Amino acid sequence: MTAPTESDLDPLFNPFTTSGQEVMDEVLAAAREHRPVFFSSLLQAWVVTRADDVTRALEDPATFSSVGVLGNPPRKEIAEVLAGRVPEGATLIGWDEPQHRRMKSVLVSAFSRRQVRAMMPGMERRTAALLDGLPAGTPVDALTDIALPLSLDVIFDVIGVPAASRDEFFGWSQDWGRLHGAELEGLDLDHQLRLANSALLLHTAMADLIEARRTDPADDLISAVLAAEAAETVPLPAQELLSLFPGLIFAGHETTAQLIVRALARLLGTPERRELLADDDTLARFVEETARLDSPVGGMARTVTRPARLGGVDLGPGDRVFLHFGSANRDPGAVRDPEDFALDRKVPTAHLAFGRGIHACVGAALGRAEAQVVLRTLVTRWPDARVAGPPELQPHYFIRGFSSLRITR
Ligand code: HEM
Repeated sequence: MTAPTESDLDPLFNPFTTSGQEVMDEVLAAAREHRPVFFSSLLQAWVVTRADDVTRALEDPATFSSVGVLGNPPRKEIAEVLAGRVPEGATLIGWDEPQHRRMKSVLVSAFSRRQVRAMMPGMERRTAALLDGLPAGTPVDALTDIALPLSLDVIFDVIGVPAASRDEFFGWSQDWGRLHGAELEGLDLDHQLRLANSALLLHTAMADLIEARRTDPADDLISAVLAAEAAETVPLPAQELLSLFPGLIFAGHETTAQLIVRALARLLGTPERRELLADDDTLARFVEETARLDSPVGGMARTVTRPARLGGVDLGPGDRVFLHFGSANRDPGAVRDPEDFALDRKVPTAHLAFGRGIHACVGAALGRAEAQVVLRTLVTRWPDARVAGPPELQPHYFIRGFSSLRITR
């Protein structure tokens, strides 16, 4: 492909593409060079591609609001179905201050490094059992057979979703996640209504679970949040309480599963890298470089609240921007030799794959730990594992991932 020019940016930019991330990477590289903030007709938003502009917006939440972060407002028919039953905004990601601050501290302590360390042995056992249960000799799907089951069980355990309901919660959560970008993706009304119905089922089941924990608390996050609420350290209206957990299910598994399969694809494609992973520091760096270069959360939207200027573009209230973390992480203005997968970076975590500012990811330590556990367990138990075919890209508004990664041991 010849290098895209300025006029190609809008027509070529398409996060829903399944035909290769390389093309999108070239489009974003051209944007960073020629037009760092360009308008996407598809997203109806200004795409912000350079690290300094993305960082400025993340660090100025009063100008760049997170309300509606996960997608443009739904069409009328869908809004009517959801009204009053599915709260707007999801978890903390779609909240502004002061509502956001109230809840963040509860979640930050639930997913602290100490908590994550305590979860490690369980994650290792689970991963080993998953791998041992898979057939030898035939390809397996690293996404659906390994990464998703692990990341779902971990987040469901933390939140307190009973084992018997997990399959249903997963299906509804996938549909609800897709609903956010459904209009931009061009899905027809019937399809969107089906997704909206899953969103209703998810929120109804979650409301029932919360009510059950009020009278019968357990050692889980739902009970911890209810206890904080009862102690009046965290006053929480019912709709906020309800919106907290579905978003957390999605944020906790989809991103992590993609980080895992991306790291596996990089590892299994280059056998000489396997030996490096015996060392804890190198293993952590491996996961970090994967997060930077593959950025499972490609970017996130913001809505402009007051006049602002970004990358030479004047923005006004109501304008939407899409902060492209994946592009910022490959910006030569911010990262030395950004296209290299380098395990010796001075500050390996100096990237935006987990966001920055008040909305920085609360699950970063957990997501990193899960990826490290899978990589190490897999190289130990399946020393000859290899990729069995090219990965398929998943079309999604903001997740940059695979819909499948076939591997054999
Ligand atoms: C490992 C892969 C993960 C990646 C790449 C990732 C990425 C991100 C990013 C980029 C943001 C910032 C969004 C924004 O600025 O609008 C974010 C926020 C968030 N993430 Fe993660 N995440 C991961 C794992 C997790 C896990 C495991 C959890 C759950 C425990 C989680 C929960 C959250 C929450 C609740 C927020 C919102 C925080 C806030 O708004 O204050 N994430 N994540």
